[in-house]
Amino acid sequence: MFNNIIQSKYYPIIGSSLIILFYIHYSLPLLVLAYFIIAYFVHNYQRGPIRTYNSVNLEGKIVIITGASAGIGKETAKRLAWQNATIIFACRDESKTMKVINEIKQVTGNSKLHYMNLQLDDYDNVSEFVKNFKSKFGVLDILINNAGIAQWWHKYNKNNHELVFATNYLGHFLLTRLLMDSLTKESRIIIVSSVMHELIRSKLNFNDVLNGKYLENYNNTKYCGVLLCLKLSQMLKNTKVVALHPGVIKTELLDKAGNTILLQLIQKIMFWFFRPMTLSVEEGAETTIYCTLMPYRELLSGGYYEKNRLSKYSKSIEKLNQVEELWEFSNQILKQYL
Ligand SMILES: NC(=O)c1ccc[n+]([C@@H]2O[C@H](COP(=O)([O-])OP(=O)(O)OC[C@H]3O[C@@H](n4cnc5c(N)ncnc54)[C@H](OP(=O)(O)O)[C@@H]3O)[C@@H](O)[C@H]2O)c1
Ligand SMILES: *[C@@H]1O[C@H](CO)[C@@H](O)[C@H](O)[C@H]1NC(C)=O
Ligand SMILES: *[C@@H]1O[C@H](CO)[C@@H](O)[C@H](O)[C@H]1NC(C)=O
Ligand SMILES: *[C@@H]1O[C@H](CO)[C@@H](O)[C@H](O)[C@H]1NC(C)=O
Repeated sequence: MFNNIIQSKYYPIIGSSLIILFYIHYSLPLLVLAYFIIAYFVHNYQRGPIRTYNSVNLEGKIVIITGASAGIGKETAKRLAWQNATIIFACRDESKTMKVINEIKQVTGNSKLHYMNLQLDDYDNVSEFVKNFKSKFGVLDILINNAGIAQWWHKYNKNNHELVFATNYLGHFLLTRLLMDSLTKESRIIIVSSVMHELIRSKLNFNDVLNGKYLENYNNTKYCGVLLCLKLSQMLKNTKVVALHPGVIKTELLDKAGNTILLQLIQKIMFWFFRPMTLSVEEGAETTIYCTLMPYRELLSGGYYEKNRLSKYSKSIEKLNQVEELWEFSNQILKQYL
């Protein structure tokens, strides 16, 4: 029974209800104790087994990480820098990213860290990035599609595409398509998705997603990331493609969601309250690092990783069968850039 509770996706709700019940019936110390016991289990469950791969040498390997200027992207970059990789920080804010690069250079001693401007919601900019990358590096060993945003209210890019969809999905789709011919043998594509993809119940109308007609688009972009992973894993024979859920982590993601002061306050209180259950940024980067460093033959192409281990997609993915539909839709929408 207890195991079921801590494995439930609704643990924050269950946890807080339990606490309220305790509060009504018992005293404060018991309440605090119960909270920390639950938090301990939830935290450990979210984190999963600890893997190290300390001795993997990525010397000479070329890695692109989108959104390496903050959050789990930054932590991933730091760890891969320790493993001697050549890392391209594909980011939109030069001065913020240069600070991160200099910090990582200093602690790891790795001097092969490069900033290259990439604004994912601007498709011309994505094409420009790929051109620059190809002329400077030529080949690509590992692509980590990590950047992402969440927004409380819809905004649009210059093509009038809903901004979260443009950034999290379409920009990455274009980036990946344009880089496909640079991939080396035994290369990897790692797509940072989210457990939120599991909210899917019925077929998505991709035009509505593009135009911002769904109340929530973040979950939709994460679902699309999973579909892209499945499509690429079927198409690419010398590349392994995986999607993953990094856990629930306090990063800049929600701070940047463009919300009101009241919402920000609620967010702060919520994160503070749940902090013992959420992962640290370092822990949040572990599943991405694990998929990057694990031996190539062990990585399952088309697989979904979570809590540092192989996991399963939502059952609806197979049933709804939208892999081809999304692939064609994306190619159609971005055909002028391909
Ligand atoms: N945090 C969680 O609990 C959680 C849970 C599940 C999945 N994820 C996923 O994890 C990934 C990383 O998120 P995070 O939590 O580490 O968030 P974060 O701290 O906000 O980092 C996001 C990164 O994406 C970059 N980015 C945003 N918009 C961009 C654009 N238009 N062009 C280029 N780069 C852009 C940001 O750049 P700036 O520094 O310039 O803003 C930043 O480097 C996302 O895909 C997110 O959906 C997070
Ligand atoms: C990185 O390179 C240095 C210098 O060549 C080497 O001493 C070190 O062992 C390498 N790190 C890893 C993780 O292989
Ligand atoms: C890409 O965006 C950056 C600013 O984020 C800008 O300096 C650069 O000129 C843009 N490139 C293209 C081709 O739009
Ligand atoms: C995302 O949430 C919206 C509700 O806001 C729902 O209509 C949609 O089906 C969800 N999509 C996914 C992929 O879970």
